[in-house]
Amino acid sequence: MKLSPRLAAIVRMIDLPTKVADVGTDHAYIPIYLAQNTSCSTIIASDAKENPYQFAIENVKQMGLADRIDVRLGSGLSVLNEGEVETVIIAGMGSQTMQDIITADYELAQNLERIILQPMAGAASLRKWLVKNNFKIIDESLVKDERIYQIIVVEPGSMELNDQFLLELGPILIQKREELWEEYTTELINKWNRIKNEIIENNPEHAKVAELNEKIKKIKEIKGIKK
Ligand SMILES: C[S@@+](CC[C@H](N)C(=O)[O-])C[C@H]1O[C@@H](n2cnc3c(N)ncnc32)[C@H](O)[C@@H]1O
Repeated sequence: MKLSPRLAAIVRMIDLPTKVADVGTDHAYIPIYLAQNTSCSTIIASDAKENPYQFAIENVKQMGLADRIDVRLGSGLSVLNEGEVETVIIAGMGSQTMQDIITADYELAQNLERIILQPMAGAASLRKWLVKNNFKIIDESLVKDERIYQIIVVEPGSMELNDQFLLELGPILIQKREELWEEYTTELINKWNRIKNEIIENNPEHAKVAELNEKIKKIKEIKGIKK
């Protein structure tokens, strides 16, 4: 199984080998890759919807991996028993869905070793929510697969991080400055400028304008841009 750059980047964040569940697996590509290339003793692939669930079962069967991958139907972490896995991957969904999944089975989530999250949108709000809800960000990464995606890795625990700007940008992304860092921050500046200009059209005095100007100034400072 050859993974897309996005899925391969998610796999790189797994501390292997581990007992793992890919929640919202759809095609089960990550579980199939893990079964073929690692010694993970427990690999669970789950999906809340019937069609992706059947799709996953079919792919796993076709690859001859039905004895290695347990495919389950059900929402979020509800398909897992307490202590059954150490690592959970939740990828390719929106930030709010991820928050809902963790909230619905919060105790179980708090007993995991690691949750690897790859939101399609809302990474900043997801980070803020995670830190507020006793998860510690232990790693982050950027990956480009048509567009830039963020991967956020957390473990249960508290984090001394109240700086909203850092949470928005990614506290570890700032430190790591991966290859995509320049492109990522330039995209952010463009996005914030776009939002600012839209607000200015209707209400130049809106408090958000000053807030966005401040954020743009800060990120330019971090990038080393003079003005
Ligand atoms: C866009 S696909 C992402 C598939 C794969 N994780 C990836 O990143 O390529 C999103 C999948 O999440 C599933 N899903 C959405 N909400 C879910 C939930 N609460 N629990 C489990 N799966 C869910 C959907 O049915 C769909 O198959």
